[in-house]
Amino acid sequence: MAITVRTLQKLKNEHKKFATITAYDATFARIFDEAGISAILVGDSLGNTIQGGSSTLGVTTKDIAYHTKCVRAGIKNALLIADMPFMSYANVKDACKNAYKLMQAGANVVKLEGGAHLCETITTLVQNGIPVCGHLGLTPQSVNVFGGYLVQGREEEQAKKLIDDCLALEKAGACMIVVECIPKALGKALSETVHVPIIGIGAGNETDGQIMVMHDALGLTAKPPKFTKDFLAQSGNVLDAIRLYIKEVSDGSFPNDAHSFN
Ligand code: KIV
Repeated sequence: MAITVRTLQKLKNEHKKFATITAYDATFARIFDEAGISAILVGDSLGNTIQGGSSTLGVTTKDIAYHTKCVRAGIKNALLIADMPFMSYANVKDACKNAYKLMQAGANVVKLEGGAHLCETITTLVQNGIPVCGHLGLTPQSVNVFGGYLVQGREEEQAKKLIDDCLALEKAGACMIVVECIPKALGKALSETVHVPIIGIGAGNETDGQIMVMHDALGLTAKPPKFTKDFLAQSGNVLDAIRLYIKEVSDGSFPNDAHSFN
């Protein structure tokens, strides 16, 4: 059955953890969908994984729309989220114009990186029928502001700001929020504080859902970050690898403490 934003909300309400993953083409999307993945993200991580760049900053709306169309062709049930690239939502008008392109390419939800300053944009998108996923913590489009790919929310003040941003995004109408590279305790606190699903990556195993970059889950990343795991190594084929990922997320065994920041 087709998974919608309501399905993910129901899973959170029932305390059932769910797994999501990135994909960029129809073949992997078909296999991930068959494995039972809840949502597929066409991430701007394609700037690294597909285009071979050192950041996500060179990715365009046209790139994401192209890969969204490819992924849509492989999906039967999974929810399809598309990333809005760097500077494609710098004002409300651009956000509407570019989100429209991604929805036309087949997205069910668009994802934007940033906190409370995006509230007006999020509310406008939602009012126009475009569901929004937020993204907080280590937001890779701001790598030059952070001065590197650094864990966020370690200081008390930073952690408080993250909680305030999360609440602001929820109030503005975001239907789910990705949190990246934050301490495990903060991932738990965010999941307990807001009502919408919190999807973690490098945020411990107490968030409502997990997301992985597919290249990390399949052992294809040259220098994998500590919060990732190669599920293909134990499985032998891609379908079983993703089934194992889903199982370990749902029983709480992935990510474990070695994959988490404390
Ligand atoms: O672009 C991406 O793949 C992402 C995930 C890391 C959450 O935003």
